[in-house]
Amino acid sequence: MAEKQEAKLTLPDGKEVKLPVIVGTEDEHAVDISKLRAESGYITLDTGFMNTGSTKSAITYLDGEQGILRYRGYPIEELAEKSNFVEVSYLLINGKLPTERERKDFGTNLTRHSLIHEDMHNFFAGFPPTSHPMAVISAMVTSLSAYYPDSLDRDTDVSIHITRLLSKLRTIAAFAYKKSIGQPLMYPKNSLNYCGNFLHMMFAVPSEDYEVSPILEKAVNQLLILHADHEQNCSTSTVRMVGSSGANLYASIAAGILALWGPLHGGANQAVIEMLEGIQKSGISYKQFLEDVKSKKDNTRLMGFGHRVYKNFDPRAKILKKMCDEVLAHLGVNDPLLDIAKSMEEVALKDDYFISKKLYPNVDFYSGIIYRALGIPTNMFTVMFALGRLPGWIAHWKEMVEDKDTKIGRPRQIYTGDKLRHYVPIDQR
Ligand code: ACO
Repeated sequence: MAEKQEAKLTLPDGKEVKLPVIVGTEDEHAVDISKLRAESGYITLDTGFMNTGSTKSAITYLDGEQGILRYRGYPIEELAEKSNFVEVSYLLINGKLPTERERKDFGTNLTRHSLIHEDMHNFFAGFPPTSHPMAVISAMVTSLSAYYPDSLDRDTDVSIHITRLLSKLRTIAAFAYKKSIGQPLMYPKNSLNYCGNFLHMMFAVPSEDYEVSPILEKAVNQLLILHADHEQNCSTSTVRMVGSSGANLYASIAAGILALWGPLHGGANQAVIEMLEGIQKSGISYKQFLEDVKSKKDNTRLMGFGHRVYKNFDPRAKILKKMCDEVLAHLGVNDPLLDIAKSMEEVALKDDYFISKKLYPNVDFYSGIIYRALGIPTNMFTVMFALGRLPGWIAHWKEMVEDKDTKIGRPRQIYTGDKLRHYVPIDQR
C-alpha cells in the first residue's frame, strides 16, 4: 500500500491542511484524516460511517458497483463451487489456502473440540422454551470465556480458542434448536465432517439412524461460505470495536452475534419469508404487492431486494438462486413461496422503479427459501448467518489484535446539548 498523493482541505478560517491519500491494492482511494484534529481542531462527521474507512484490512475485497466479492483475493464464485466451509475458514483466518497437511490438521482439531462442557447443558435447560436462539447462542459464547479463563490473558495462544469457538458454535447452535423443540440434545459424531455433523446434531434423534444427505451437506457448505465475510459490516465492526478494548475473543464474538441479530442486518432472511407468507395468506397477487411497493404504500419494501453496497447485482444471490433450484428439486419440495419469489424477481428486474434505483436480489432473497426446504425453522435463520459469519469475525478480530497500529475504537462527536448551566435545588425548580 503506497502513500503517493495528497489532498488539501481548506477550513473556514482559510487554513489549509494537507492530508495524505492512501491507495489500496485494488486502487481504492482514501483521505487519511488521522492527524486532522491534532493539526486543525476539526473532526469529521459521518453518520452511519457511509464514507469512513475504519481500518486497513487484507481479508475481503468487495466492489458493489461491479458485484465483486473476494476472500483473500479468491472470487466467491470459485470458493462456493470448489472449496468447503472449513477450508474457507482456514483461508480467511490464516490468509492462505491450507496445504493438504494443514487442512487435515485443522479439520481434525475442529472435530476434536466439538463437545461443550457438560455443565453448560444446564444453561440450555435454564432458558424458557420460547427463547430466541440468538439470545441463547450469544449467552453461550460469552460463557465459553468462563470455561476457558486463559482466554482472558492477552498473551494466551489464541489459536486454540479460535478452534474451540469454530467447532463449538456449531454444537451450541444445534443444541439451542433441539432445546427449543423439546428434543434430546444430540452429541456430535467424530466420523462426520463439519457441516454433516451440524446437520446430524440438528436433525438426528437417538431413536433412529440419520444419514446425512450429500446434497444438503453441500448446500449448507455453500450457504456458510457465502456468508463467511463481508468486510466492515455492522457486526464485524462491532467485533473489532469490542476487541479493540482488549476484550477476549469469546466476548468480542458474542458482541458480533448480538449486532447481527437486528432486522436491518442478519434478520433480513427471516423478513423475506414473512413477506412471502404474508402475500400468500392475504390473497393479493404478487403484482399488486409490487405495485404497493412502488407506491410506497405503508412503506412496503420488497424484502431481499437492494443493498447498501451492491448496486448492480449481489454475486452471492446469483449462486443461491441456482442452489435453490437444485436443493428443492433434490428434496422434491414444491414450495409455493419459491414460485411467488421467482415471479416477483422476474417482474421487478424488468420494472423501471427497481432498475432506476439499482435494486437487485440480495443474498437473503433466496437463502430463506433454502433454509425452509432444509427444515430449518425461521427463527434459526439468523443463527445460520452467525455460523457462516464466524470465521470472518475471527479473521477480523485476529487482524486487529495483531496490528501494532490498533488503538481502542473511540469515535468523537459533535455535542448538540445544552451549554453550561448550574444545578438548581429541587425546591427551586
Ligand atoms: N423495495 C422497494 N424500494 C426500495 C428497496 C426495496 N427493497 N430498497 C430501497 N428502496 C428504495 C427506497 O425507498 C429509496 O427510494 P427513494 O429514493 O424514492 O427514497 C431508494 O430505493 C434508496 O433506498 P435506501 O434505503 O436509501 O438505500 P440503502 O442503500 O440505504 O438501503 C437496504 C439498502 C437497507 C438493504 C434497502 O435496499 C432495503 O431496505 N432492502 C430490503 C431489506 C433487505 O433485503 N435487507 C437485506 C440486505 S442484505 C444483508 O444485510 C445481508
